[in-house]
Amino acid sequence: MSPRIVVCGRIPDAGLELLDAAGDLWAWTRDDQIPIDVRDEQLATADAAVTLLNDRVDDTFLDAGPNLKIVANVAVGYNNIDVAACTARGVTVTNTPDVLTEATADLTFALILMSTRRLAEGERLIRAGTPWQWGMFMMLGTGIQGKQLGIVGMGRIGRALATRAQAFGMDVAYHDEYPLDAATEAELGVRRIGFDELLETSDVVSVNTPYMPATHHLIDAAALDRMKSSAFIVNSARGPIIEEEALVAALQSGAIAGAGLDVFENEPQVHPGLVALDNVVLLPHLGSATIETRSAMAELAARNVVEVLAGREPITQVTA
Ligand code: DGY
Repeated sequence: MSPRIVVCGRIPDAGLELLDAAGDLWAWTRDDQIPIDVRDEQLATADAAVTLLNDRVDDTFLDAGPNLKIVANVAVGYNNIDVAACTARGVTVTNTPDVLTEATADLTFALILMSTRRLAEGERLIRAGTPWQWGMFMMLGTGIQGKQLGIVGMGRIGRALATRAQAFGMDVAYHDEYPLDAATEAELGVRRIGFDELLETSDVVSVNTPYMPATHHLIDAAALDRMKSSAFIVNSARGPIIEEEALVAALQSGAIAGAGLDVFENEPQVHPGLVALDNVVLLPHLGSATIETRSAMAELAARNVVEVLAGREPITQVTA
């Protein structure tokens, strides 16, 4: 009997085609969230589930799918999955690293330019029909050449961001529990510094660390307080790494100069205090949103399913 594969959210054809060839495929093909009753009915007989980052995979999900062998998340982040609960039930969990590194680093650098150069603010001005003319002092931004970028979390995306920052003439420091080896540091032209020092000395702070209990509100009121009043913060990782209430207060008071956010603490809700401010750029979680990248993510998730259903090791397994 061919294995049953359930896809809980709409994914690109590149993934669906592989899955269709690998078993009896059922896929939710709409952009809105799959209703729980529909999902659970499908999970009841599923051997594999493909999930998106807004599918919560917990004991309730696993109870609904007692035969599951794999949960393949179409995202690099897997904070939506209780990996320990999956492991306890013998369910393999996979994610999609590497294939989205460049797209996410591009988006992060775009946030840096958009916030320091006030690009979204300028666009809003024109769209609002506000009268304007070129002026020596009109909408002055902050140059980034020679300024320090402090990267919090030097994984794949952090490293890809560092290469972009080098090309723009920035001086790059990073903080990570695990130091890069000396050759990689030299190749990227980066240096590791303490977390507090990074906050105190950086002109732009970029959050690129995974979200986990240890990074919940890593950037809180005290951390924001350490930053220069001329500094910017960008986040393309996960919203709850920054304490949003504290960020709103810091942006309102001028404790920091600005922010660029692609992710939010209570996504898809955005704190009304952020929406009201001009010195923050707000994007709807577009980090990996290119046609090429989303296809590659779907394909990698599907290949993980194929491997596990064939009794082989997945390509990109995650563990608790
Ligand atoms: C991920 O893969 O974790 C990204 O946030 C998706 O865009």
